[in-house]
This record gives sequence, structure tokens and C-alpha cells, in this order.
Amino acid sequence: MIKEHIPVMLNEIIKNLNIKKDGIYVDLTLGYGGHSKAILEKLSNKGFLVSFDKDQEAIKESRKKLLKLDKNFKIIYSDFKKIKEKLNEINIKKIDGIIADLGISSPQINKISRGFSYSKDAKLDMRMDQNQDLNAHKIVNNYSEIQLTNIFKKYGETNFANKISKNIIKNRPINTTFELVQLIRKSLPAKIVRKKNPAKAIFQAIRIEVNQELESLKKMLSDSPKLLNKNGTLSIITFHSLEDKIVKNYFKKFIEDKTGKLPIIIEKKWVVKQIRPLKEEIKKNNRSRTAKLRILIKKED
Ligand SMILES: C[S@@+](CC[C@H](N)C(=O)[O-])C[C@H]1O[C@@H](n2cnc3c(N)ncnc32)[C@H](O)[C@@H]1O
Repeated sequence: MIKEHIPVMLNEIIKNLNIKKDGIYVDLTLGYGGHSKAILEKLSNKGFLVSFDKDQEAIKESRKKLLKLDKNFKIIYSDFKKIKEKLNEINIKKIDGIIADLGISSPQINKISRGFSYSKDAKLDMRMDQNQDLNAHKIVNNYSEIQLTNIFKKYGETNFANKISKNIIKNRPINTTFELVQLIRKSLPAKIVRKKNPAKAIFQAIRIEVNQELESLKKMLSDSPKLLNKNGTLSIITFHSLEDKIVKNYFKKFIEDKTGKLPIIIEKKWVVKQIRPLKEEIKKNNRSRTAKLRILIKKED
């Protein structure tokens, strides 16, 4: 039985979108439709929602859910890095709000054959988009020692990157998640392995590389603010420090005082906000414990 996905920070997302019932909204990470459904419920028959995902299994399930609401929506099967061109293709130039709930969904991690989880034995895979060529098996079995070390350091922030990549090279082929977990554990001193499971960081690193997560995020960030109407918002939920740092630094650029002067009245064109989940949500949904919602609001055209 695949566990349902519980949408993270749903109330905070909806409250801060300030939904206009006839507005146009974009959910960049449809997943299992939790946020999209809540947005659609607030729209009139003149409003419109566009939802993106690059996982066709998620799209299939969510389409059924959203159709029941009998409102206007379109699901786009695409990486969200293509937000600008995909909206242009359907003649949407300006929107009232964009949300992204980054990472993977509970059904993706819980479905064993997707190979995302280090606690379930499966063929190495980790693709969000099952039609894409690059997968975890190819990375683990074909990347050079230097390439592996780089991604483990950069995306896994581990001190044992080199040791692990050397062991991978020595023990190839590595076909399954459990073979990889064993090898990671053997590469580290026992006292470190006892403290925390080192596979977590390495699996995160490989997943980020398979799905090119940070590149997509950067491209989407650089194209999204220009698409917003006045009072439009860009809301992003991050789950780890690498993606959060990118969003935080990108938003910061919008509110920096570039003149270096201190005006008496500061008219701000952009405002940023940061919100954490409530304790009650963290208690009910462990997935939300590391979530951070960052919001960029366009105050003037
Ligand atoms: C955390 S889940 C979203 C859950 C959703 N908000 C809900 O309430 O059910 C993230 C979803 O975004 C998709 N995704 C992640 N990065 C993506 C990208 N760059 N382009 C398109 N879809 C992406 C994943 O396939 C996954 O289905």
C-alpha cells in the first residue's frame, strides 16, 4: 500500500497566495495534487490553474483528483525549468501566483521500484521523470572517481566522498540500493556509521544529480519573477540547505538597496518572507520538519 502524500504547509501556502478567484496560478510541483486541489477550490469558473510535473505516474493520479472539481486547469508534463516557454506556448504571459514544493513525494519514495529509498532494496533508479535517460545506475556505474567525489561533496556535503567513490569504482557493477548502502557503510569508520546512516547524504547527492534538481531550480528562479502581476507571489518550499540557500540568496537580490543610500521613505518593489511549519504540523507529518517556505512578493509593476 503506497502512503498518501500529505501536502506540506498547505494553510501557509494558500493564505500567502492571496488567491483572486478569477486569477491565474501555477503549481510547479503538482505531485499528488494537494496544493493544486486547494488552489482550484478557491478559483471561480473564470480562474485558471496550470500545474507542472515531470512524473507521469503523479500526473495520472492527480488529474483524476482535479477533474472532480470541475474547474479550469491544465497539467503540463515538463521540467519546471521550462516555465517561461511552456506558459508562452499556451499564451499565458502574466500570472498571479506561483508555488513550488520541492523534492519528491511520499508515493515516489515509498514505491520500491522507483529506487529512491536507501531503506528498501531495488534497482538503482531515482528518476522523477521515468522517460529520462540518466538514472542512478548509470551515475554509480559510469561516472569517474572525480565526478562521483564531486557530487558526493557538493550535494551530499560528506567528508568521506573520496573514500566512497574509490570503493564504488573498485566494486562495480553495483546494481541495487542495498548493494550501494552496504558499500557506503563499509567505506566509513564504524563509529560514524553508528551515529547516523551515511547512506542518506549519498542518496540525496545521487538524486540531485539524476534529476538535475539545482540547475532546474536556478533556471526556474531566474524566469519566474518576471511572469508575476502586481501583488503576485512566488512561494517555494525547500527541504534541505542546498536548495534553501539558492532560494534565499536569489530572493535577497530583489530587496538589496543597490543605491547604498538610506532614503527616508523606502518604497519597496519586492518583499520577501520566510515561514516555518507549526509544531503541530511537524508532529503530524515528519516530512515537514525541515521545510522552509520562502515567499517573494511583487509590490509594483
Ligand atoms: C514534494 S512533491 C509535491 C507534492 C504536492 N505539492 C502535493 O501536495 O501533492 C514534488 C513533486 O514535484 C515534482 N518535481 C520535482 N522537481 C521537478 C521539476 N524540476 N520539474 C517538474 N516536476 C518536478 C516531483 O516529481 C514530485 O511529484
